[in-house]
Amino acid sequence: MNRKPFIPVVSAVLATLILSLSVHAEPYPPTPGPDGVRPGGTLFESLPAPEIKDPVDSDTRRVRAYPEQPPTIPHTVRDYQVDTNSNRCLDCHTRIQTGVSGAPMISITHFMDRDFQVLATVAPRRYFCMQCHVPQSDAPLSVQNTFKDVDILLRGTDDAEGEAQ
Ligand code: HEC
Ligand code: HEC
Repeated sequence: MNRKPFIPVVSAVLATLILSLSVHAEPYPPTPGPDGVRPGGTLFESLPAPEIKDPVDSDTRRVRAYPEQPPTIPHTVRDYQVDTNSNRCLDCHTRIQTGVSGAPMISITHFMDRDFQVLATVAPRRYFCMQCHVPQSDAPLSVQNTFKDVDILLRGTDDAEGEAQ
């Protein structure tokens, strides 16, 4: 059986369908989204992004908000390269370098693979440090919170503020 004549008919039907859909489609509503870190605006507006704050650069380690927290990075990391060939963070934080760099060694958990086998060096799943560790800036909080350090809770007082950031 020859099906060739059907092809133009099918295409014509499809084209009409697509055309009618596009003609009747609602345009995106011009209602602006809610304001977040930057003002909401509509989908078609391109509003200026807030200025990036300078990162805090300090030589003091920060208090962790809870014991398992990846500690935040106290120093600047601008232009530190991390790729397959080199890892700037490990130049200082790997075990063998800590004597010279004075940096804290990566945690023993960073040597373990997902089966908790301890490897000789950093496990691949911990290679990209900034998946978990982040530098800080003194930008105002974009979302307020009422977090309290557990030590403050244990003391049962409300007068002291948590040190954690
Ligand atoms: C030039 C050496 C050097 C490099 C490179 C470096 N660090 Fe550090 N890092 C330090 C030192 C030294 C400290 C201890 C605090 C201080 O003196 O700033 C530290 C502290 C830290 C801490 C805090 C640890 C804690 O227990 O509070 C984290 C997290 C950290 N670095 C992550 C990184 C990451 C991620 C990179 C790569 C993007 C990096 N560092 C690159 C030297 C370095
Ligand atoms: C998957 C998340 C993750 C990645 C990736 C990661 N870390 Fe961590 N890191 C943590 C957590 C969570 C802790 C705190 C608990 C612990 O010790 O495991 C920590 C602790 C640390 C500490 C403190 C160690 C101590 O004994 O005080 C340093 C320094 C550190 N990490 C550096 C690094 C560096 C450098 C890299 C990249 C090579 C890296 N981390 C990659 C999650 C991560």
